[in-house]
Amino acid sequence: MFLRPLLFQLDPETAHNATVSACRVAAKIPLLPWICERSLTFRAPELCTEVAGLRFPNPIGLAAGWDKSGKALNFLDRLGFGTVEIGSVSACPSEGNPKPRLFRLPDDRAIQVHYGLPNDGVETVADRVESARLRIPVGVNLVATNHGPQVPASSEEEILDDYATSIARVHAYADYLTLNLSCPNAEGGRDVFSEPGTLRRLLERVQPLNVACPVFLKVAPETDAKIHERWLMEIDPFECVKGFMFNLPSGQPRSLKLKTPANIWKNRPGAIAGRPVADWIDRCIASLYPRLDHSRQTIIGSGGVFSGEDAYRKIRLGASIVQIYTAMIYEGPKVVTRINRELLELLRRDGFECVQDAVGVGV
Ligand SMILES: Cc1cc2nc3c(=O)[nH]c(=O)nc-3n(C[C@H](O)[C@H](O)[C@H](O)COP(=O)(O)O)c2cc1C
Repeated sequence: MFLRPLLFQLDPETAHNATVSACRVAAKIPLLPWICERSLTFRAPELCTEVAGLRFPNPIGLAAGWDKSGKALNFLDRLGFGTVEIGSVSACPSEGNPKPRLFRLPDDRAIQVHYGLPNDGVETVADRVESARLRIPVGVNLVATNHGPQVPASSEEEILDDYATSIARVHAYADYLTLNLSCPNAEGGRDVFSEPGTLRRLLERVQPLNVACPVFLKVAPETDAKIHERWLMEIDPFECVKGFMFNLPSGQPRSLKLKTPANIWKNRPGAIAGRPVADWIDRCIASLYPRLDHSRQTIIGSGGVFSGEDAYRKIRLGASIVQIYTAMIYEGPKVVTRINRELLELLRRDGFECVQDAVGVGV
């Protein structure tokens, strides 16, 4: 893409904001959305899939964190995705963490992120989702408000209230909700959901809201079977929960084995996204998939997907939908078309009639 070298001259957050603004403006230019859709959409019946009662024209989605407040929502269905997820959105607007908070690690095709959940708050975002008319399923990712380091950490009660407020405000307009239970870098935030019982208490709080759409849980990237069993036990009574996704590992775990010298990234805050996390998330998916009740729960996989082969691997390990983020930064929206085309070739090569038939066959 000719714009990429230009964007890479800018600081990463400025480039990100400029791209979101450009998409918002592009939605209003006559014919442009149509032209983008014509050039970027790759259709094939084998790629259509159904997950949690929703129909997806292809299994490649935009991950949360790109359009945090749904500002570009009216354009995102023109970029070839099968679904888009906006957010994370919290009950109150938030500035997120102090800047700088986004860094490129190009040698690793990675991003170091310490945004800390800046967003316009659920009131504003719910209005945007309500007025948007998209032809693909739209997920809204919800998280507890990051009030910043000066404010004392919220109690469990306050955190659960925060989710309940957001869910009540937006569930009627979203095609699905993701509850982000594990943001790796909210300043001052506690990982309350690592404590047994908190997830169950959250879902008990959500139950009376009669949520109108499927709910996914974005959890910490755990491979430990005991932790998976505990999640499954805690969600068991709650029919609205339709599956899981894994968030980024927090901090900069040694096992990511970055090519970028440690002196560049070690002293910066933030989690690593992109190619280095692919294997880690693949292990999480492969470990959780066999434990799921497949008539009730599915997995949405993200982490280091840059090619059809990467997406296919996650699907074979158990993901029904695959999301991308960092690949969009390094390759632009054409990557979605390429991933879908390559994925179709792999499905055909291995004799699968549709994506669904390949889910979990590699476990
Ligand atoms: C800059 C950036 C911001 C992100 N913000 C969020 C967020 O607000 N909420 C969330 O659930 N995940 C967020 N994520 C995680 C992504 O949704 C995704 O799970 C992760 O980046 C792995 O995919 P990737 O390797 O294709 O980037 C963010 C990731 C990046 C790179």
